[in-house]
Amino acid sequence: MSPHAITQLEPTFTLTQLKKSSEDKHDFGAVVKGLDLNNVSDADVKALADAIWTHKVVVVKGQKNLAPIKQWELVTRFDPEAPQVHSHGDIKSFNKKGGVLSAAREVIGIPGAENVRLIGKGYQGADHYGIKDKTLHKALSHDFHAKELPEAEFTAGFTRFQRWHIDAPLYGRDPAWFTTLRCCRRPLANRGPVTIRWDDGTGLEMTSEPGLTAFFSNVQTYALMTPEEQKMADHSWVEYAPHPYMWIADCHGRPNGLGLETEGREKPIEALGDFDPAAVKRYPMVWMNPVTGEKAFQVHGICARKLFIRSSPDDLEKEPRIIDDVAEIRAFLKPLQERVLRPEYILLPSLEEGDIVMWANYQMFHTAVDYPNSFGPRTMHQANIGASVGPQGPVPIPAMT
Ligand SMILES: [Fe+2]
Repeated sequence: MSPHAITQLEPTFTLTQLKKSSEDKHDFGAVVKGLDLNNVSDADVKALADAIWTHKVVVVKGQKNLAPIKQWELVTRFDPEAPQVHSHGDIKSFNKKGGVLSAAREVIGIPGAENVRLIGKGYQGADHYGIKDKTLHKALSHDFHAKELPEAEFTAGFTRFQRWHIDAPLYGRDPAWFTTLRCCRRPLANRGPVTIRWDDGTGLEMTSEPGLTAFFSNVQTYALMTPEEQKMADHSWVEYAPHPYMWIADCHGRPNGLGLETEGREKPIEALGDFDPAAVKRYPMVWMNPVTGEKAFQVHGICARKLFIRSSPDDLEKEPRIIDDVAEIRAFLKPLQERVLRPEYILLPSLEEGDIVMWANYQMFHTAVDYPNSFGPRTMHQANIGASVGPQGPVPIPAMT
C-alpha cells in the first residue's frame, strides 16, 4: 500500500524504497528526500508518519541544519495527544531508574531541547549545541554479553549486536510509535567495515559500515511462525516487570544480542523499591499496525516477567496458561524470535551526517553495533515520545487487575 493511498494527501517529498540484493529477505526500508524538517507542513508530517508505519524504517536525507528543538517538535506532531515528554521520562528519572539502559551508556539532554538525547561515543567537539568539550566515555561496550567479545578481536574490527530491543519503558508510559535518530557525526568513512558475529554457535556473521543501527522486522518474525504459533500469539499476552530495566540491571545478554542468559541475576521485585501496580504493563504478544493492518510479534523478552498463553478464540473463557519462570519464558520465546535473526533479514541503513533514521517502534527490533574507538567519535540525537495510544492486539486482552 502506498502512503498516497493511505493519506489521500500529496506529500511534497519523494520516497524511494531501499534497494535490496538478491540475498536480502528483509521487506522494509525507504529513503525520503526533499523535506526540510525545520519547516514542515502538517500534511507532510502526516504523510511521513504514514510512510514510517508503511515502510517501518525511513531515512530522511539532508537534515544537517535541523535545530534540535525542531526534532522534538516533529516528534510531538507525530502524536499530538501524547504527554509532552520523552518516553523514558526526563533525564533525571532516566538516569535514576534506567537500570541496564543508563548503566550501559551516558545519555545527555541537548540544552534547550532536553527531550532530544545525545548518544554516541568519544569526543563530541568544543561546543556541540551548548555541550562543551564533552567526551562520552561510557559508550556502548560488550560488557552486557555474558560471554564477552575478547578485546583484541574487538579492536581488530569484530563486533556484535549489542541488545535487540524496542524503545519502550514498559512501565508507566506506553512505548513511542516512532523513534527518530539524527546522525550528527559518524566514525571515519575510510575506516571499517566491522564484522558482526553472532557467536552463538551458528557461525553467522555479516559486515557493516561502523556506527550504524541494525533492524529486523517483527512482522517478518510473525510471518515465519506456523499457523498454530500465530494463533497462540494472537490470543496471548505478556506482563512486564515493574521498573523492568532495574529488574534486569545485573543480567547479561546472549552473544547474538537477542534475549538474556539465565544466571539468576534478576533482582527480587521487593528490591526495586515502591512501584505502582497500575503502572505495570500488560501488552498483547501481537501488535497491530494501524496503517497497514500488519501483525508484529512484539514481545520484549528481556523484560517479560509472565506470559499468559491462550491458543485460540475458544480459550477466551478459560484461564490462560501462565509461564512465570524466566528460564521457561526465554525457552518459549527463543525459537520463535531467533528465526528472523539471520543476515538476510537484517538491515543496517547507511546514514550520512545530517540524515535522520525514523522507525516504527511497534513493528521493529533494533540494536546498536559498537565499533573500535580508533574509528573516531559518533554523535547522534535521539528523540521519541510516550504514545497517546499503546499497542493494540488482534483480540482484546483482559484488563490489568
Ligand atoms: Fe533503542
